[in-house]
Amino acid sequence: MNPARTSVHGARTGIGRAHAKSILLGEHAVVYGTPAIAVPLHALDLTVRVTERADEQLHLRSALFTGSAADAPQRLHPLVTAIHAALALTTSAPIGLDVEIDSAIPFERGLGSSAAVAAGIARAIGDLTETPLDPEAVHDVVMAAETIAHGRSSGLDGRAVASDVPIRFRGGEVTPVPVGAPLTFVLADSGHEGSTAEAVGAVRELRETFPSRVDGIIGRLGGIVEESLDRFAAGDVPALGALMDEAHSLLTELEVSDATLDRLVAAARGAGAAGAKLTGGGRGGCVLALAPDAARAADLETMLRDAGATRTWQTTVETA
Ligand code: PMV
Repeated sequence: MNPARTSVHGARTGIGRAHAKSILLGEHAVVYGTPAIAVPLHALDLTVRVTERADEQLHLRSALFTGSAADAPQRLHPLVTAIHAALALTTSAPIGLDVEIDSAIPFERGLGSSAAVAAGIARAIGDLTETPLDPEAVHDVVMAAETIAHGRSSGLDGRAVASDVPIRFRGGEVTPVPVGAPLTFVLADSGHEGSTAEAVGAVRELRETFPSRVDGIIGRLGGIVEESLDRFAAGDVPALGALMDEAHSLLTELEVSDATLDRLVAAARGAGAAGAKLTGGGRGGCVLALAPDAARAADLETMLRDAGATRTWQTTVETA
């Protein structure tokens, strides 16, 4: 047996990691088949450690809950689904597991926490069973969990938390986005949980009521993504910022922003951000601001906290 996969008690162990993500452009519209762009947030990551148990029980240890999986609260059901999905792909023999999650990714903030946990679980169980899962298998596990967490989703989160580089996502297809100059972003937490499923449902209802207006907005959000690709390649910060600003206005028209997000977006622009917008499902969650350059990001963070952000983070997307 590989000693690296053995705990001090001689039980088999496995480790899996994943990171958060932020949607830069195209959220909500992507549900209707237009493209979106997401960036990895390497600063916010998680580690899943799984250890085989002598019995066939499933035991969880996380910030939200510690105990038998059978007693887990509903918000952990996606995680339990991911464990079963990963076990089904890796072993036909029933095994018990201790599953420990050590996560720096805040929940329900549009940062892909549920998808990242599922990806970490898939990788950890693959590691323990010595049947590493390929990216498609990891994605299948994530989608099984995401369907429970968010209802039908575009699949963007699942791809974004498993990619080390920015991606363009459309209808399940993923391509890397070339970036011509480092881009530094500041994320600001509104302090309010967002419900992606609820926000997606609200957009669906708005579209049923005002189909041509909403389809026009969706089309433009997709157009912004396509326009942004050349700007990424050129490392054109002011142009990317302007596209982010326009995307935020359109998301406001889709009624997925709220007063706190709008206030933080305005504060970011007032503090010199090249552009700012809500990121992810909205109605709570986070704001993403593009710093004019890396040196100004710390000031931007301070000003966003002064404007009421409960937490802020910086991330730089390197040239690729
Ligand atoms: O709130 P998040 O980060 O999980 O992002 C949701 C993105 C949406 O486009 C609103 C929904 C989806 O399934 O793509």
